Amino acid sequence: MLKNFLKQSKKADILYLDSPNNPTGFQFTKTELQTLVKSFDGLVIIDEAYGEFADYSLSSFAKTQSNLIVVRTLSKSFGMAGIRLGYFVANKKFTDAFLNVLQYPYPLSTLTIESGILALENVGLMENAVKIIKSERQRIIETLKNLILLMYLIPRLILYYLMPIVLTNVYFLLLQNKEFQLEN
Ligand SMILES: Cc1ncc(COP(=O)(O)O)c(C=O)c1O
Repeated sequence: MLKNFLKQSKKADILYLDSPNNPTGFQFTKTELQTLVKSFDGLVIIDEAYGEFADYSLSSFAKTQSNLIVVRTLSKSFGMAGIRLGYFVANKKFTDAFLNVLQYPYPLSTLTIESGILALENVGLMENAVKIIKSERQRIIETLKNLILLMYLIPRLILYYLMPIVLTNVYFLLLQNKEFQLEN
């Protein structure tokens, strides 16, 4: 799959990838993503909007990899979409370029900045919420798996087990009825 992905993106200058993906939840493994960043010639932007719900992040890899930018947001795990605050992690080359093009004096509202600081000072609240969401996600996955198994098994049980019993009983009852009795 990774090979295919790289083949398809050969002519591109920028590769933008959700990790995990919205809405499928699909995520390449960490090693696969690292290989992808290393083998792609252009810029790789990894969108980790749902990164806190995943098992790994690529943000520390961005420090050493000059073609990687990891973008994150406070919209999902912090549940603070309304403040419109996000950030990116990248090599100094990108952070310097970004600081040069920022529109001062007010690139972010004071309310956004203060809300962001408050959220980060209470990061434990977010971590607890993420823990609960992850365990609920697992519970839903298990429940759905069992339901799917039941949906697979029940028609087969009816067809191969219950139907023969019912039919045999109906046949037996019919045979008891004189009109249906066999004669020599
Ligand atoms: C993968 C992904 N990236 C980014 C965003 C946008 O996040 P923000 O609220 O920070 O604009 C979304 C929102 O749904 C998303 O699903």
